[in-house]
Amino acid sequence: MKNLYCIVLIIFSLATISCGLDREQEDIYTIGFVQAMTTDNWRKEMNRAMKVEASMHPNLNLEIKDAHNDVERQIAQVEDFIEKRVDVLIVSPIQSVPITPVIEKAMNAGIPTIVIDRKIEGSNYTAYVGANNVEIGENAANYIISNSTPGKELKLIEITGLQASSPAYERSRGFRKVISKQENIEVVGTIAGDWEKTSVNKDLQSLLDSIEAPDFIFAHNDRMAMGAWEVARSENLTDSIQIIGVDGLFGPSGGIQLVKENILAATVLYPTGGAEAIKLATQLLAGDNIEKNNILNTVVIDKVNVDIMQNQFNKMNQQQNDIEQQQSVIKEQLATYNSQNYLLKIMVVLFILLLLLGLWAVYLVFKLKKRKRRLELNNRKIITQRNQIEKFAEQLEVSNEVKINFFTALSHEFKTPLTLITSAIESLGQNPNKQLKDFAYETSLISKNSGRLLRLINELLDFRKLESGSFRLKPLKTNLYEFIENIYEDFKSEALKKSIDLKLESNIKEVMVYIDRDMMDKVFFNMLSNAFKFTPKNGQINISIEEIGEDKVEVRFKDSGIGIPKEDFNKIFDPFRQAGNNAKPSSGLGLYITRQFVELHKGKISVSSHQGTEFKIELLKGKDHLAAYEFVEDTLEIEKEVSAKELESNYIPEELSQSIDENAETILIIEDNTDLSYLLKKKLLVDYKVELSDGTDALEKALEIIPDVIICDLNLPEKSGFEICKELKSDLRTSHIPTLILTALSDEESRLKALKAGADSYITKPFNFEILKESLRSALFNREKLRYYYTNKIDQVKDNKFEDSEQAFLKELNSLIEKNLKQTGFNVEDLAHQLGISRVQLYRKVKAIMGISISDYINAQRLSKAKSLLQETNLNISEIAYEVGYASPGYFSTSFKNKYGTSPKQFRS
Ligand code: FRU
Repeated sequence: MKNLYCIVLIIFSLATISCGLDREQEDIYTIGFVQAMTTDNWRKEMNRAMKVEASMHPNLNLEIKDAHNDVERQIAQVEDFIEKRVDVLIVSPIQSVPITPVIEKAMNAGIPTIVIDRKIEGSNYTAYVGANNVEIGENAANYIISNSTPGKELKLIEITGLQASSPAYERSRGFRKVISKQENIEVVGTIAGDWEKTSVNKDLQSLLDSIEAPDFIFAHNDRMAMGAWEVARSENLTDSIQIIGVDGLFGPSGGIQLVKENILAATVLYPTGGAEAIKLATQLLAGDNIEKNNILNTVVIDKVNVDIMQNQFNKMNQQQNDIEQQQSVIKEQLATYNSQNYLLKIMVVLFILLLLLGLWAVYLVFKLKKRKRRLELNNRKIITQRNQIEKFAEQLEVSNEVKINFFTALSHEFKTPLTLITSAIESLGQNPNKQLKDFAYETSLISKNSGRLLRLINELLDFRKLESGSFRLKPLKTNLYEFIENIYEDFKSEALKKSIDLKLESNIKEVMVYIDRDMMDKVFFNMLSNAFKFTPKNGQINISIEEIGEDKVEVRFKDSGIGIPKEDFNKIFDPFRQAGNNAKPSSGLGLYITRQFVELHKGKISVSSHQGTEFKIELLKGKDHLAAYEFVEDTLEIEKEVSAKELESNYIPEELSQSIDENAETILIIEDNTDLSYLLKKKLLVDYKVELSDGTDALEKALEIIPDVIICDLNLPEKSGFEICKELKSDLRTSHIPTLILTALSDEESRLKALKAGADSYITKPFNFEILKESLRSALFNREKLRYYYTNKIDQVKDNKFEDSEQAFLKELNSLIEKNLKQTGFNVEDLAHQLGISRVQLYRKVKAIMGISISDYINAQRLSKAKSLLQETNLNISEIAYEVGYASPGYFSTSFKNKYGTSPKQFRS
């Protein structure tokens, strides 16, 4: 915007400069000329001479007004010029007296005024231009005298100009002054003319008629002289009268021509003074001093000099014409020059403008480029910042999510042992007179789970300490083989329990290292408990110790478990993280703490996975790498105490035998915590038949036994409880089974997710066993109610009135039965086959939904159909029996009577 202002300013300046130049040229003066009249050639010549002279001065502007021989008009025109404030005023008066005041007025107004030809009264003007009229009169008189015989009597007539004009009376004065001195010359008549030819005729005619013809006539100008000649000619006196005129104009009917044609004897030259007047004006404008009275020369032109004069005038005229022509050429050239000059200026201005605009455009391009660069830079910065923010946000989200997962997992980790502890305590409290073996079971459960809680809390405390960097190593000289062997021993019984082949191999039995025993105990314990967590029954866990070169020892823990995906290798050592394929409950801190502890020993831990997982821990021998710590040199005996009490309880659980009640309902418990599932089984066996699944075979088990109710955990190793529940509920064979979720996840989201998956109720850990029992009872009771509903409103199932999940199953079942009703041999096997499930599954499902066997159900359908046929048709009993699939009408009648208490015959009547 600023730049635009600059450009506008420059353009304005250029315009001003060019205007300034023009104004220098435009410094023009105006000369106002008031001409008495322009009817005659003398006046026309005066005007022409003025114009020619003025044209020599380009800065002169000559303005001519014609008064048309009207005195008043002439005064008004002078007034006009005064008002206009012309630079110089030139006036050729008609009469002397009337014009005088207005000329004085012009003088008073400070306008230099030049009087030309006729005079005014007084001398209040700047300059006068004109010939001496007295002298003209004298010259005319002298010419007469010199052209007459001396002493001979001469008679004259004088024809005067307008009396009120100065040339008339001055010429007369001069003429009379000379004539009066001649005794032989007599003026026989005077005619008062008005400068024009017409003013002569009449008076001269009558004068000539009344007197003897004169020898000479002196007319004050050539026009009146011509008039006199015409009168003389009419009187045939042209030969005897010689006529003298004034003006001596060049050109046709001018005085010179009249002399040449012998019309006039002579003419006294009376110059117009036009050129001189303009010259005077320019001198005035230039500030020069000028003469006040500028008298022009005069001469008598007669036969003797007329040719010379004519030649001279011709030449002058020629020159004048040349000048005029040149002037017009100059004018034209000047006009061309001016227009070209003007064009040039415009072009220069436009060029400068173009140049400036060009420069401005270049400047703008640069500026824009700079701005663009700056914007691009900013953009890049913003994008980088945005990416960083996005990355931070992502990291934050991930770390947030990771932390939330961590706390969820941790709470689950806390809840399960707590559940077991509280259940055990409850059980002890309810039954103080328990048998010793039960007592031992409950207390070992409490102790084992308290130990587990303690381990979790210790892990948390270790994490805290590691985070605050307040861990200090207490290195103790230790035989690594013995140290690990001790831990290995602790896990042996666990291996036995899970049928896992646990081995310890080493090429050397004495490997001395400096370690903080507490820390390394946790490291190796964690390695082994992880291996146990992920190794299935009948799997393998190998521990190997190997010396590598002089200064290193390598301990490997290899299991045959599910392994770890490669992309998770780094992640698993981060706090709160676990491998993507690991659904096992964990604090997520174990491996992090392990790595930190190993690294505090300047060791290394790495993981690889091929048919299971292998952790490799590399420790340095000697103590140089731990120079910063205090050492305990004594090789203290490795305490043979049990370092992981919670793994082993003294109590070996007894094999629980199933309930004796054959009709008891079956419960399937899907739970990966063996303690909890054992505890639940133990307690529920009193009322139910109980089956267990650790989650890995949940669906297979459910399909195999078709239990009456299912208890299912959510955090399970292979499939989550949500998935298991969903699959159970979407399978025709198991969809009817009430499913109770028993979980540590107490958030609403999980609850909703479970209900959406089809769960019938949701109980959170730690739970009250009585509540669990009650929930089971009510689930089964509800099933009972539904069963009653189905059995009693079975017909309505057809009408689409059921809003139950089993509706589809029942509809299909009913339609299949209806379709095959006529067939005598149609049995349960056929029906199960057509439904795509096993006979046992069909039996259990129908029994579960309706409380009757499927064969009874088919039979009931046959009889119900028969009942309606009896009511609505005229078919006889036998026909109806065949129609509903009975091979014998007698057996049909018996069945009908058993069901409805009346025979078909009685029923119809
Ligand atoms: C022209 C004229 C001349 C004469 C002069 C006197 O108008 O009549 O012929 O000499 O004026 O003012």
